[in-house]
Amino acid sequence: MIDVVLTPSALRDTSTAVVIDALRATSTIAQALACGYRRVLCCQDRARAVELRAPGRVLAGEVACVRPAGFDLGNSPREMATPRGVELVLVTTNGTRAIVAAAGVADEVVLAAQVNLAAVTATLPAELLIVCAGTEGQPSIEDTYVAGGIVRWLPRPRTDAALLAEALVTASGSAQHAFAAGLAARRLEQAGLGADVAWCARSSVLDVVPRVVAVEDGVAVVALTPTVAAAPSLLRDR
Ligand code: MLT
Repeated sequence: MIDVVLTPSALRDTSTAVVIDALRATSTIAQALACGYRRVLCCQDRARAVELRAPGRVLAGEVACVRPAGFDLGNSPREMATPRGVELVLVTTNGTRAIVAAAGVADEVVLAAQVNLAAVTATLPAELLIVCAGTEGQPSIEDTYVAGGIVRWLPRPRTDAALLAEALVTASGSAQHAFAAGLAARRLEQAGLGADVAWCARSSVLDVVPRVVAVEDGVAVVALTPTVAAAPSLLRDR
């Protein structure tokens, strides 16, 4: 059965969770790993992210869409195209928190966005919980749209919530059109980051499947290959 929850507050135990924060955390993570960062350390809070800063690690994130003071990078996927280190430490308002929360209840966590939709969908099992990060506890059109895109591609039994997400894709037309209608896109426009909306609305341009390979001290470690999970301490051993 494929199910969709529109916010992380509805999270429940599951074998496989797919977390979506299309604007912008999961798009940024997919872009960072596609461009050569080996791992992304997803943090729940800023203090923890700052603690994890070390040589070879790049500290990135956002508050109200913009780079926090003292951080190396913001949360724009466009900033990830040229890696500035081996690993990315990332903290965002909704996305990285949803990833850590899902990693606490799911056996396997995969990260999806419009930019890696086809690559992720090709790997998914029949039993699935799609978790939309939403915006500050409220559903978001862009995450629900990506969820609907996954549901649409999988010819499997689905819940009514999954059918609703799929119906949104049919009703909205293009991802660009759907994303631009939402609150997150308006906030990005106001912050001078409107170009990120078009960037994140591109369909299946990245052939990567980011997975949580470990959770340690409230940090979800994301990489492209499960083999990284064999390291004794993922936060210390680079
Ligand atoms: C989040 O996690 O809240 C988003 O990725 C915010 C953003 O657009 O940077």
